[in-house]
Amino acid sequence: MRITFVGTGYVGLVSGVMLSFLGHHVTCLDIDNEKIAKLNNNILPIYEPELEHYLKTLLAQNKITFTSDYNQAVENADVIFITVGTPGLDSGDADLRFIFESVYKITECANNYPLIVIKSTVPPGTCLKLQENLKKNLKFKIASNPEFLREGYAVTDFLNPDRIVIGTSDQESEVLLKKVYQPLTDKGVPIVSTNLITAELIKYASNSFLATKIAFINEIADLSEKVGANIEQLTYGMGLDTRIGAKFLSPGPGFGGSCFPKDIHALAKFAKDQNNDFFVLNAVIDSNAQRPHNISAKIINLLGGNIIGKKLGVLGLAFKAGTDDIRSSPAMKLIEILQQAGAIITAFDPKAQSNAIRLLPGINYAPSMNDAFTGKDALIIATEWPEFKNIDLDKVYEQLTTKIIIDLRNILPVHKLVEKGFKYYSIGMKIIHKN
Ligand code: UGA
Repeated sequence: MRITFVGTGYVGLVSGVMLSFLGHHVTCLDIDNEKIAKLNNNILPIYEPELEHYLKTLLAQNKITFTSDYNQAVENADVIFITVGTPGLDSGDADLRFIFESVYKITECANNYPLIVIKSTVPPGTCLKLQENLKKNLKFKIASNPEFLREGYAVTDFLNPDRIVIGTSDQESEVLLKKVYQPLTDKGVPIVSTNLITAELIKYASNSFLATKIAFINEIADLSEKVGANIEQLTYGMGLDTRIGAKFLSPGPGFGGSCFPKDIHALAKFAKDQNNDFFVLNAVIDSNAQRPHNISAKIINLLGGNIIGKKLGVLGLAFKAGTDDIRSSPAMKLIEILQQAGAIITAFDPKAQSNAIRLLPGINYAPSMNDAFTGKDALIIATEWPEFKNIDLDKVYEQLTTKIIIDLRNILPVHKLVEKGFKYYSIGMKIIHKN
């Protein structure tokens, strides 16, 4: 099939490359000429494990095309996925300008009435609105196909999804969209076929539920610290209950990224607009917003109540491991708070550093992990990169001026830290100190 992606951001790029790998002829469109030129030269604008390999192979085989030319991208397409951004507005609503513009342009340029599929995360009801707008041009059909890819695992997630969700309002569109995913459904991947609004709501409900799980466990972790419970054993004990499940039960500095924070606000706002206040979600929003402030208060307390002039090394800037994305990163927020409280920050991230420098120029950036802790008063781990897990603790002990480690991702072995004599804080554990 001939498939076009309008918007070659994270979702459009990964989905485009992978649908091309599954055998479709794919064209990815973006208005950013520089990005398109890079992609045509095998250069990825984002860091995503494994993606480069697929891109190179498929480009060499002429199975995928990148262009800035609207006409070229949409003419002759059977299916057009819209994967443009839906940034959050101050009101909490999602900004749907780019979606509406794209659909309008497609109807202007396309000549064979392709199926228009909204893959960007949009508030429930958006597809119906688009369909309403197209009433004059009934030959165009709108479908919904939310994506569930995680940054850092997007290739694996694409090839092994838990489910594919499609929302359509007519049988022809349903059949066509099912055909797109046939290589996966043939392998047994379940497909949930429903109406437009249900598909849209499945996406928001899923992200909001996962965010709720994280906010909940973060608060249980706070409670555990107070009463001396062990969060690791606690989450193990909870997670074995198959009704709860072990995933997304890792406490940390709060959830971030381009999806959860934006989507929970959008769903809460959507619910409010229906006169149906979403109390649980409102609490999750507050809980996560408060999280970096609570964590920084704990850090300041651990460092004696005053961090003016204290040198702090921070490992990790990305919102999670496996990505260079710093959008709504709890690490970045925490650094800002600690800096405002007077600390001198030196940070290191294996992938996100250049993105962070643009947003937060006023801190020191270390050229290596070791430089981030040498001569510092404490070391904070803010992102769970595998290389941080394997950090040489003897070296850290030797190089830190005061032997304090704050592990906000619980990735370091507690017994070793205690044995070596560190003053140590990890989420959901009592502060441990041998002396
Ligand atoms: C999330 C969803 O997991 C994807 O299914 C969805 O497709 C994507 O949003 C989207 O809407 O596009 P992503 O933002 O890449 O994916 O990141 P996650 O792996 O879900 O992590 C989100 C945040 O939660 C991160 O800050 C992470 O550190 C935090 N987290 C996650 C925890 O604090 N604890 C956990 O146990 C899991």
